[in-house]
Amino acid sequence: MNLILLGPPGAGKGTQASRLMKERGLVQLSTGDMLRAAVAAGTPVGLQAKAVMESGGLVSDEIVNGILSERLDQDDARAGFILDGYPRTDVQAHALDAMLAAKGLTLDHVVELVVDEDALVERITGRFTCGACGEGYHDRFKQPRVADVCDACGASNFKRRADDNEATVRQRMAEYRAKTAPIIPHYDGRGIVARVDGMADMDAVASAIDGVLGG
Ligand code: AP5
Repeated sequence: MNLILLGPPGAGKGTQASRLMKERGLVQLSTGDMLRAAVAAGTPVGLQAKAVMESGGLVSDEIVNGILSERLDQDDARAGFILDGYPRTDVQAHALDAMLAAKGLTLDHVVELVVDEDALVERITGRFTCGACGEGYHDRFKQPRVADVCDACGASNFKRRADDNEATVRQRMAEYRAKTAPIIPHYDGRGIVARVDGMADMDAVASAIDGVLGG
């Protein structure tokens, strides 16, 4: 099964993708994670992407299409994948069609998480992750069971993203409205788009997505 999770920053794409990965054995393909890894490693792609990401803008279609195409060629993607944060522009949506056709892959579902943007600012500015294993937390919605200790791996080095401040979040949302939301009609005619209430609690969102994916 191959699917796209769509929704503005903070809609819960990463949260649900990571759950689906654990529960269904699908691979999470997050272009944001790939770009952050490139920034951390100081690669040429990372050097180009860093300032754009910190400003809340979108990295060029050329760069993102390139890293996604390479990632799709890795063997694990054949078991089924979740695209998290891609495609984000009309150019990327068309590039994805061409990539999938060339690789003999198809899309089964596009799940749009429908959310209230004002509530998302609190979600994003409050989130943090374990620096050792990547487990996600939130100041208000999901604290570690023991203060300052990761539930999943016991490490104590939590981190916050450089682009998770309110001004940058507002810019990321503006980019979503201007460039990403308009690509949804690209998929509407294929009968594979489902809309899920992303404002419900995490378990309810998970159940609604499971209802769409079936089995
Ligand atoms: P990216 O990493 O993709 O970030 P994003 O789309 O802004 O999405 P987020 O990761 O912020 O949110 P999410 O929807 O995954 O929410 P999460 O599950 O974490 O992109 C970052 C940057 O990289 C972009 O700005 C751009 O510069 C660049 N980039 C990436 N892809 C690109 C592309 N294709 N083209 C060009 N540039 C690209 O949830 C958020 C918080 O809310 C968490 O704390 C979570 O615990 C909590 N939460 C989740 N669900 C719920 C719920 N139901 N109720 C309460 N809390 C919840």
